[in-house]
Amino acid sequence: MTNGRVGCALVGFGYWGPNLARNVQSHADAELLYVCDLDPAELDHVRELHPGVATTHSYDEILADPAVDAVLIATPPPSHAALGLAAIAADKHLFVEKPLATSLSDALELAGAAYRSALTLMVGHTFLCSPAISKIRQLIDHGEVGEIVHVSSSRLSLGLFQQDLNVVWDLMPCDFSIVQNLVDPGHPERVVAAGSSHMVPGVEDTVNAYLEYDGGLTVEVRVSWTYPLKVRDLTIIGTRKMIVFDDTQPIDKIRVVDRRLEVAHPSISLGEFHMSYRYGDTFMPLLENTEPLATEIADFVHCVQTGAPTVAEISSVR
Ligand SMILES: NC(=O)c1ccc[n+]([C@@H]2O[C@H](COP(=O)([O-])OP(=O)(O)OC[C@H]3O[C@@H](n4cnc5c(N)ncnc54)[C@H](O)[C@@H]3O)[C@@H](O)[C@H]2O)c1
Repeated sequence: MTNGRVGCALVGFGYWGPNLARNVQSHADAELLYVCDLDPAELDHVRELHPGVATTHSYDEILADPAVDAVLIATPPPSHAALGLAAIAADKHLFVEKPLATSLSDALELAGAAYRSALTLMVGHTFLCSPAISKIRQLIDHGEVGEIVHVSSSRLSLGLFQQDLNVVWDLMPCDFSIVQNLVDPGHPERVVAAGSSHMVPGVEDTVNAYLEYDGGLTVEVRVSWTYPLKVRDLTIIGTRKMIVFDDTQPIDKIRVVDRRLEVAHPSISLGEFHMSYRYGDTFMPLLENTEPLATEIADFVHCVQTGAPTVAEISSVR
């Protein structure tokens, strides 16, 4: 590291890569040394936006440069494992956009290789760094919602279609990273999922999944690239309160709703069984105004500098 600054190289400058480049460039302790892309037009785009940054189509050139401490990968998911393993073999810290890989064995191989080489490996689960998810996590940790019994998440829009990977790989990592981070339910006991391909044969563009966990928690996730409106809803049902998060709202994204159903007299006979409804206040907590990706890059740089665990690692031991 030069003067404690982390030398970075970004691979992939398509839709998402420019956001990573901008945030690396604006971090005081990081320096974007290279952008690599196979598409010459994207490299022209890099030179326009970041004139001081070297451009290359050669990944080997990046890996051979000792000034590069960390590689950030924003290429399509099927390429993540090979690019990531090559970076680790070249002794580079690694940031990989979600999903880490497209098979469990590849993901484990990446994690194992980074662990054995004592290198930071961070997956770009940007939502874990969003002020809204941090606030919901605080509310849950403070016991505001009680025990969580159900989570429902919808991520629907007329999406950016991909030809070789279905909508599960594109969108569901966001939902599951959020559920894992907020509820930490472990492995599901049962998973039911159904999808359909309306546009590209064999590539599901609409998928519904339903998961049951030990202890009774249930999670449902809906994702689609063929929906006319943009929907980004997360609803958390607790035994005390409910949280409704609408990420399409410019402000007041989170509502904490003091509403629940209770069995009025659990011991009475079935004939007399009835429910009581509680209707209390709804409040909308104030959220910090920070860009999630800036927080995520700051976390990555900090972890590379110090060897500290990443946000996702911390959430996995909560
Ligand atoms: N964190 C988020 O919120 C978020 C949002 C969008 C996308 N993503 C993730 O970012 C990644 C990239 O998605 P995208 O939508 O930007 O894809 P994209 O197809 O728009 O861009 C990918 C770029 O990578 C380049 N590329 C492909 N293979 C390469 C290789 N071997 N070497 C160098 N360059 C190569 C392509 O030329 C292209 O410019 C995916 O993993 C996606 O899931 C994350």
